[in-house]
Amino acid sequence: MAVIVIVGGQWGDEGKGKIIDLLAEKAKIVARFSGGDNAGHTVLNPYGEFRLHLVPSGIFYPQVTCIIGNGVAINPAVLLKEIDDLHNHGVNTSRLFISDRAHLIMPYHTLLDRLEEERRSKGALGTTLRGIGPVFADKVARLGIRAGDLLDKDVFLSRLKSALELKNIILTKVYQSSPLSLEEVYQQYCHYREQLVPLIRETSSIIREAATKGELVLLEGAQGALLDPDFGTYPYVTSSSPLAGAGCIGVGLSPRQINRVVGIFKAYNTRVGAGPMPTELKDEIGDLIREKAREYGATTGRPRRCGWFDAVAGRFSVQINGLSDIALTHLDIYDGFPSIKICTAYKFKGDVLTSFPSDITILEKCQPIYEELDGWQESISGIRNFKKLPAEARNYMSRLEDLLSCPISLVAVGPDRRQIILVKDLFS
Ligand code: GDP
Ligand code: IMO
Ligand code: MG
Repeated sequence: MAVIVIVGGQWGDEGKGKIIDLLAEKAKIVARFSGGDNAGHTVLNPYGEFRLHLVPSGIFYPQVTCIIGNGVAINPAVLLKEIDDLHNHGVNTSRLFISDRAHLIMPYHTLLDRLEEERRSKGALGTTLRGIGPVFADKVARLGIRAGDLLDKDVFLSRLKSALELKNIILTKVYQSSPLSLEEVYQQYCHYREQLVPLIRETSSIIREAATKGELVLLEGAQGALLDPDFGTYPYVTSSSPLAGAGCIGVGLSPRQINRVVGIFKAYNTRVGAGPMPTELKDEIGDLIREKAREYGATTGRPRRCGWFDAVAGRFSVQINGLSDIALTHLDIYDGFPSIKICTAYKFKGDVLTSFPSDITILEKCQPIYEELDGWQESISGIRNFKKLPAEARNYMSRLEDLLSCPISLVAVGPDRRQIILVKDLFS
């Protein structure tokens, strides 16, 4: 077996939850390594339909230990509600652990996320308002509070006191907002503490041990490569790295322990929130994709912006993640399309760009150059064998493989766990 990192290849919502729910069948460990409850990972399996924000998507298998790694920011209220929902659906969560090094989202983080977005006004980033920017800023500013701090009430109180002193100055003096009460926040988190403490562990050793024994370990990414703070469409990005490299740091494994890196891509592109998206379709084709695929955010319910597959961005994502495999999802959404376009390059001021620009002021002005392929007219959602796919669908996949220089090993043809075509063996 192996350690496999699974990441979003585009702007998030590629279907990571679905693919991980499927691959976890053989896993010993599934560990989330970045993001927070800005993520919304949809899983549709015999237990029902779930939108997981923090709990790893391997939770539905009794043999899987699920870990929320040190790279994740945890909102305790969201996590406890999610655990409750899972219990109510008959899912056993007794193998769920959280890293003592994971940072906690505090009430001032969500408050400041909203106030900062309001201050940005027209330049708002369109964040999920989950406190993600502020919590990761505090992490690197060495002002954060970690899950492990909850183990000792005095330690927790002293860290909270020192953080809140500064936050209340910002809330009252910069934003003319009301201060937060130390006592109230402390009591609220002491209440969460009772349920969280039994889950808190030094989790990197659990993961390393399983990896060393050769068990299957899946590292579950959140968001997508183009939202990476370094390589994404800065500043329209998230605040922790969704790239495969962050998989190591986010759980405490060495790069030498990673065997495969699987990138999930939709057959088209979507984006939720602000920022450039060269292939966005603001027409009836974009609307058709949105309605057919129910492209509304799993976390915020916002309509997702839809467009043709962007192979320039896709190639960049393959390269910066070092993908060994692609899992292509939502191919069924193209059923009945007379033709399908792929963006193969950008036109910028008379030049043809084949690489993804780092500067969004350039990207905003890029015009997609399209190649048009024949579509297929039949429904593919019941197909389970690659050879039974219509020739046009196989041709579309083959063109994507060429443009991205990476093999497609899995194809999803619907939201259900069973709606999958295994093209190549990921575990060999
Ligand atoms: P994630 O954040 O990457 O896990 O993706 P989301 O859950 O936010 O969004 C993916 C959406 O597409 C969910 O509603 C899934 O149920 C759905 N989905 C996943 N794979 C497929 C697929 O192959 N076909 C269709 N039609 N829907 C899919
Ligand atoms: P999953 O894991 C899609 C986007 C937000 C916004 C930007 C910054 O479900 O794929 P943040 O709240 O992180 O500060 O917002 O990032 N964003 C996502 N878009 N899927 C996600 O997660 C996202 N998580 C954040 O919409 O544009
Ligand atoms: Mg999502």
